[in-house]
Amino acid sequence: MKPNAPSLPNSTAGEGESPNPTLDRNSQAPFDPAAYRHALGSFLTGVTVVAARDAEGAPRGFTANSFTSVSLDPPLILVCIGDHAHSYDVFASCESFAVSVLAAAQRETSNLFASKAPDKFEQADWREGVAGAPIIDDALGWFDCTIHDRVIAGDHLILIGRVEAFGEGEAAPLGFHRGGYVALSDAADARRGGDALRVGAIVEQQGAVLLVEEDGQLSLPSADRLGRDGEDDPGSLIGLLAALGAATALGPLFSAYEQAGIQHLFYRCEAPQEATGRFIAFDQIDWDRITDPAERSMLKRYAGERESLGFGIYLGGAEQGEIHHSRPGEENGRKA
Ligand SMILES: Cc1cc2nc3c(=O)[nH]c(=O)nc-3n(C[C@H](O)[C@H](O)[C@H](O)COP(=O)(O)O)c2cc1C
Repeated sequence: MKPNAPSLPNSTAGEGESPNPTLDRNSQAPFDPAAYRHALGSFLTGVTVVAARDAEGAPRGFTANSFTSVSLDPPLILVCIGDHAHSYDVFASCESFAVSVLAAAQRETSNLFASKAPDKFEQADWREGVAGAPIIDDALGWFDCTIHDRVIAGDHLILIGRVEAFGEGEAAPLGFHRGGYVALSDAADARRGGDALRVGAIVEQQGAVLLVEEDGQLSLPSADRLGRDGEDDPGSLIGLLAALGAATALGPLFSAYEQAGIQHLFYRCEAPQEATGRFIAFDQIDWDRITDPAERSMLKRYAGERESLGFGIYLGGAEQGEIHHSRPGEENGRKA
């Protein structure tokens, strides 16, 4: 049964001042749903398919970007389903469900599960999880869950799942931003051949960061192409990290900004203990020797955010942009 959906309160922003006066708790301006949806679209997310079995055992599912991790111990995740969804009743009563994180090549799968097609699972490749919930083939990651709790929140139902099994692949992620799909790693790889791209890494090893020293100046390792796993050409980022004695897999995107017509993408990653490169402890960095102001500002942000274990993603220009955090309403307009 669908609950009666109470109307959306005037503001769901957290404590503190909002940069947008129409969302300010104290503002007299009328609530503007279109502006609110637009502001929500500023948050870069991944894309998932959430799936379960209905009472007759038929697979049902929908595309969702409201997925997030809730707890590590016990392992809990959540996803929200709107009361407009045809499959709402299925998720309001199921005992288990699965979340498949879509890869960049799965836009069509996202569109299929965002549709009202009655035969979504006949058009997709999938398999069964441990409790029977469908998991999409070739997903970048998957989480097979039993229901931990359900909470009605406005016009959505929050499904909190306890993760019983999970897995991940190696593909590039599918992203969603401002109402459209984005494929960030694809963007990095597609720019091979000296196009205006700089791709770099903040490689941490036990409180120290990998820096490159040249003519007394320090910089983060970067190259004009990403490269492939196992590559040793230092003209690529992967090859450069290997040459610097810090071969490692790239982690999440940390900053994407344009500077002098060149798109810069910097990723976070951790170096294995045996890595031998020039690692400098964060509290011993001579910041003046990092001569690129965008890199200096980015690394200072990293040094601050690692203390709070709350990394954001910077999107914008070298001077001005926005930092997207998993908690809304934080840190707009700071430097890269
Ligand atoms: C990228 C993307 C993310 C979405 N995220 C959600 C979400 O988190 N929750 C939700 O209820 N609907 C979300 N939707 C919309 C549903 O996928 C859509 O309403 C779908 O038709 C629901 O399927 P159903 O009506 O068959 O249940 C999203 C759509 C897209 C394209």
